[in-house]
Amino acid sequence: MKKYYLTTPLYYVNAAPHIGHAYTTVAADVLARFLRANNRPVHFLTGTDEHGSKIAEAAAEAKLPVQEFADRNSAAFRELWAHLDIRYDDFIRTTEPRHESRVQECFQKLLDAGDVYKGRYRGFYCVSDETYWTETDAPPDEKGRRLCPNAECRKPLREVEEESYFFKLSKYQQPLLKHYQENPGFLMPTHRANEILRFVEGGLQDTAISRTKVKWGIPVPGDPEHTIYVWFDALLNYLTAAQSAGATEDIWPADVHIVGKEIYRFHSVTWPAMLMALGLPLPKSVFAHGWWTVDGQKMSKSQGNFVDPRDITREFGVDAFRYFLLREMPFGNDGNFSLESLRKRYNAELANDLGNLVSRVEQMVDSYLGGAMPGRNKDEAPSLDKEFAAKGPEIDARMEALDFCGALGLIWGGIGRLNTYVNEKTPWKLVKTDKPATEKVLFELVRSLRIVAGWIEPFMPQTAAKMHAQLGVRQFPVPLSPEQVLSGDKAGTGKISKAPPLFPRK
Ligand code: MSP
Repeated sequence: MKKYYLTTPLYYVNAAPHIGHAYTTVAADVLARFLRANNRPVHFLTGTDEHGSKIAEAAAEAKLPVQEFADRNSAAFRELWAHLDIRYDDFIRTTEPRHESRVQECFQKLLDAGDVYKGRYRGFYCVSDETYWTETDAPPDEKGRRLCPNAECRKPLREVEEESYFFKLSKYQQPLLKHYQENPGFLMPTHRANEILRFVEGGLQDTAISRTKVKWGIPVPGDPEHTIYVWFDALLNYLTAAQSAGATEDIWPADVHIVGKEIYRFHSVTWPAMLMALGLPLPKSVFAHGWWTVDGQKMSKSQGNFVDPRDITREFGVDAFRYFLLREMPFGNDGNFSLESLRKRYNAELANDLGNLVSRVEQMVDSYLGGAMPGRNKDEAPSLDKEFAAKGPEIDARMEALDFCGALGLIWGGIGRLNTYVNEKTPWKLVKTDKPATEKVLFELVRSLRIVAGWIEPFMPQTAAKMHAQLGVRQFPVPLSPEQVLSGDKAGTGKISKAPPLFPRK
């Protein structure tokens, strides 16, 4: 069975990872965990982008040999992903031989096919984005400077003139437009599609794909004066990683490339054109998410306001950080990160709505039933359970559509329903007059909370594991899917135990 193949961008190793990188990677991890819980085979790829002038210049500034510099920073990404409970299947570095040799093969193939030719490039270049720009893309501003047209960048451009190999991107204008039209799920979310359609309809220029002035890169086969342009090199990682992971047909093509909006064009125009030229099937979709600002400001070196994910997890824990990233801003939109709104959500949604509910239920089962799983009358249909479990397919549909915020909204709607249920049924009063009725109420609550634990597992794996353990689910290895939780009483005959609050108030 073909695996569901999902990817993050390969992050540049010029600096330490920040919340922007963590965002994409956590989102991909949430999707991967969701799919695995639904018994879908998954291949989740992430990694680091290590060639080009941006990295070479950062290494020089740090006074380190480039490879050593790249090794250190690539390791920092891997360490952060371990800390954030990211379960990827493969981590690729563009300096690995498995990647470099295959990039050269692809270059040669396109050269042989006539889709790559030698010419001369004259224009502008943004080192920060590793992007070529023409004179018309970047007209001089009032001070006579040419700035990167990418709104997220706006750094000064360098003028470049050199011999280059070119990729015949122009040849793929019509095939790309046809592909977009025939595959409406390719450009995601749909509000991003127009921008790309307009760009491609406006005509595509052939693009330079080699540099003579940059030494830190993969040599062009047979012409070592040239190194392969870092984006041509990096985009191919999705292919080279799949090829090196065993039977390519089990993985290829990608189901979704998850990327930030600023690199959407590379992924939705250049990359599919490269694959067409290589005669390979295209990814099923390319999803662009929005950007975080921090306290209303763009994160930048000059502002010195990059948020280090560890500063957040130290105070709030890994799960709360993962939760906040996906709850605060709908996937696909832009949003703002602030400690104030994180603290607010933490206290209201995690400590109160969820954590407090779990403690109350455990406390009641402990005092009224000595911690035993509440019994139920088998002839009576579980009322709350019915309306509650019906939410499952709706949540799944949101997850499949990468609407993580929507899925969390539905889950918290369910948690809200449970809180209302406790307050309506007042088991602490009921227990004085009707023990069997109290037991039924507690049964419904425990069972519903087990379902909640399954729903939140992709977002908060540690919390889900704690909830399962506390709620007496011991028959299956965690995480449990809702189906497994519901698949029989055996799943939960363990003792229900009181435990410290899941989310101590901050
Ligand atoms: N190396 C290229 C990608 C090559 S993919 C073949 C690159 N690297 S990067 O280190 O700059 O990472 C960019 C990615 O980091 C974005 O696409 C996005 O996933 C994430 N983010 C970086 N800053 C971000 C925000 N402020 N907000 C949200 N995500 C952002 O581009």
